[in-house]
Amino acid sequence: MEYLTIALAKGRLAELAMDMFTAIGMDCSEMKEKSRKLIFTDEKNKVKFILVKASDVPTYVEYGAADIGIVGKDTLLEEGRNLYEMINLGFGKCRMCVCGKPEMKDKIFMMNNLKVASKYTHIAEKFFRDEKGQTVELIKLNGSVELAPLVGLSDVIVDIVESGKTLYENGLDVLYEVCELSAWFVVNRVSMKMHTERIMNIVEGFNNIISEEK
Ligand code: PRP
Repeated sequence: MEYLTIALAKGRLAELAMDMFTAIGMDCSEMKEKSRKLIFTDEKNKVKFILVKASDVPTYVEYGAADIGIVGKDTLLEEGRNLYEMINLGFGKCRMCVCGKPEMKDKIFMMNNLKVASKYTHIAEKFFRDEKGQTVELIKLNGSVELAPLVGLSDVIVDIVESGKTLYENGLDVLYEVCELSAWFVVNRVSMKMHTERIMNIVEGFNNIISEEK
């Protein structure tokens, strides 16, 4: 039997995904040990897990280097790759929000050339252009985005809010909610045809876990 390759977004989502794969009978023990390895094999189930940077998961899946991926909706929206979004796994829940200093709240949608800093410039551009009909100046950052409005790099940010702690500790607020986010199970379009039964078994297993949790 051919190996199925599953790409996990390194970090918290990978940990939660491993719990789900373990619950449906896959062996993730090798991956749970702290190491620098990037490929882990479950020989019994003929599955390979690869650990990749979150923003690269949709790329591996679109090109078929991975048959399946577990990745946040934020990354899927930002990367806009051609793949099947099969199941909303319901974990890793957070929100994509426009955030900034509280005094910006009533002004954001009225300002000309609003400066928006984000790791998610595609999501930000689409939101302001399509939903609000507003032209904004986008500034791409790669992390610690909350700094931007504090040092005058931007008027607002578009970023993920989970607990709200980062915003609170930096004197910033949610000004507008763009959308809700969570982890998704995604599948390569060709793999879906080639390995329908094996993939649908996993989907069924995951759906059972999700409905038990509800
Ligand atoms: C994310 C996000 C926020 C923070 C939100 O950053 O960009 O900064 O988490 O979480 P909270 O609402 O629970 O405080 P991440 O930890 O991925 O690091 P980054 O600064 O490199 O983006």
